[in-house]
Amino acid sequence: MTKAFIYFFVLLTVFSSCGSKKTKYKIGISQCSEDVWRNKQNAELEMESNFHEDVTLCFVTAYDDSRRQIQQIDSLVASGIDLLIVAPNQTESISEAIDRTAEKNIPVIVFERKTDSEKYTAFMSADNYEMGFQMARYIASLLSGKGRVLEVKGLPGSSPAAERHEGFVNALKDFPEIEIAASVEGDWTQEKAYTEVKQILPQLENIDLVFGHNDRSALGARKAFEESSNIKKLPKFCGIDGLPGKNGGIKLVRDSLLDASYIYPTCGDKLLILALDILEGRQYQKETLLSSAIVTPENASVLYMSSEEIISQRNHLEILRNKAENYLQDLTNQKFITILAACVVILLLVMLVVVYKYWLEKNRINLEREKMAQQQLEFYTEISHQLRTPLTLIEGPLSTLNATDEIKKLSPENSEMFTVLCRNTSRLSELINRLLEKQSGKHSGGLSFSEIDALTVKTAAQETVPVKTLENTFTLLIVDDNADILAYLRRILSPYYNVLEASDGNIGLQTAEKEVPDLIISDIMMPVMDGLEFCRRAKENIITSHIPVILLTARSLDENFVEGFKSGADAYITKPFSEDLLLARIDNLLKNRHLLKNIWEKVSEPQPQPKAAEEVEKPTEVEDAFIQRFKAYVDKKLSDSELSVETIAADLGLSRVQLYRKIKALTGCTPVDLLRKARLNAAMNLLKKGTMSISEIAYSVGFTAPSYFTKCFKDEYGMPPGEV
Ligand code: FRU
Repeated sequence: MTKAFIYFFVLLTVFSSCGSKKTKYKIGISQCSEDVWRNKQNAELEMESNFHEDVTLCFVTAYDDSRRQIQQIDSLVASGIDLLIVAPNQTESISEAIDRTAEKNIPVIVFERKTDSEKYTAFMSADNYEMGFQMARYIASLLSGKGRVLEVKGLPGSSPAAERHEGFVNALKDFPEIEIAASVEGDWTQEKAYTEVKQILPQLENIDLVFGHNDRSALGARKAFEESSNIKKLPKFCGIDGLPGKNGGIKLVRDSLLDASYIYPTCGDKLLILALDILEGRQYQKETLLSSAIVTPENASVLYMSSEEIISQRNHLEILRNKAENYLQDLTNQKFITILAACVVILLLVMLVVVYKYWLEKNRINLEREKMAQQQLEFYTEISHQLRTPLTLIEGPLSTLNATDEIKKLSPENSEMFTVLCRNTSRLSELINRLLEKQSGKHSGGLSFSEIDALTVKTAAQETVPVKTLENTFTLLIVDDNADILAYLRRILSPYYNVLEASDGNIGLQTAEKEVPDLIISDIMMPVMDGLEFCRRAKENIITSHIPVILLTARSLDENFVEGFKSGADAYITKPFSEDLLLARIDNLLKNRHLLKNIWEKVSEPQPQPKAAEEVEKPTEVEDAFIQRFKAYVDKKLSDSELSVETIAADLGLSRVQLYRKIKALTGCTPVDLLRKARLNAAMNLLKKGTMSISEIAYSVGFTAPSYFTKCFKDEYGMPPGEV
């Protein structure tokens, strides 16, 4: 369990220690310890990596623990590194891990500490034997070739400790009067050196110099000596590393805390260049020994100054690098935002297109639905027309028959059969109405057929007067393409009216223009020209515009009614209809026309509007214009005693008959009567002014004889002109 946990922890540190930028080379760096010397080296490696775009560094540290270092190396390999740089904690213990790495064709650079493995790719370090050797010679000169020395060694099993000791001992062989009083085992840390020296110090006497295998060990020993009460004079202290910076060996020597140090080069930059040479297949040196130098009180100040300068420049470089990195990051962010914005815009556009397409499709479906509904409606309308026409032809004759005496004389069985016939005809009619009602209700949601029909019947009932009371002098024109309907209508209407017939709209228009009938009944659904068009054209024609038109059809939907009235129709009767309803409607319209005539009877005298305005159909614009034209013409020609109806008709663009019928239909007077009334009216106005004699007035308004004028005047106004 603990093992698994450790392994997991190691993996975690390995993965989290790797940079996340996408690169070509991933280099793993396995440090044996964590201290200022290693930190400096790591910083140099990182700094150098900034000059190589495609490198990612993964740092791990074993904290002086060989087992941990083995696990870390394996994990680095598992994470997919391209090259391993390793500072082996101990020479022997991690050799196998190095072998395993090399066997996976991952190049291995061993640096600074040696390994037993022979499978490494390259080795880079300063010469530790030489350092120990040179330090011994310098110490000999410090002690003038005589004295007692205490050695504080590095970690047992690590190659620098062994080599520095060997170099040191070998060099001292030339100085027999220098004695190594004791060698204690350290582990490269200040604490360990302090503890070890403190422990051995009571057994030691007259130590002239302490040689620590690194500066930290020398300082640890110094602390132990300083704390000892038996020591009268502190020995000299020498170390190795000679690091720059505040607590580095160079400053310690400058400040006389150490008597000498030896620069142990970190060279992280060189290490990375070597790694890239290997990775990119360039030539490289398998064994690189880095040159170095001793730090003495004589050169420490200069070295410190120049190292400070280097550090400050490095700091500046670091600041610049950070800035550049920030700019790069900003740039990347901006790129990302731009791409994101572009994506959002594209997405919006796509959504717009989709929504627009959906909208178009919806519209298309709606239109199609409407079209289908319209077609359905038209189909029903057509069917109803087809059904209602024959039904009219059954219902009408049946009701006529029903009213005859012959029916009363029928045997009970036949009478029963006749009743069944009548009842079922009504039933059939009702069924068709219901069918249409349903369709109409669905389509318009307005008045249903039955409501309209009921209204029509109700209005008709209110207006109905006994049709035998009408004069048999009016002329009606029936326009229908169905010969049966024509015959049926003729049979109903001819007892009361002069009936003219036309089998289509064109013939109907010609007949109407020629005969100027008093009323027109027209079917709507006809070939050549439908009833609506026929009605519209009849109402536009100055000759026929005044004629009331009843549209007769099976089309019973609200919109058909509206359409019909828009075309100028005066009434609308749906099939099947009762004879009484039709006669009542005709009678009513003719009566209303009569009221219209009253308005124009006294054409020269403006009349107050009748009270029951809704009962009176006002002249249409065309009619009004015609009357105005007629009036203006007559006013202008009033004094012309020769003025004839033929001349007036010709000047107004009509035939004599057309003028006669039009004027008669609109005003109830003949044109001659109307002309006379106009003359008398003008005479009345002149009489009232009293500036002219009666004879003068008679002549001025177109009478040729004053005596005839006086007679006419008296007939019109009930008094002779002299009494005005
Ligand atoms: C740093 C260090 C140095 C010493 C070297 C020996 O980790 O302890 O102080 O010179 O390692 O490998």
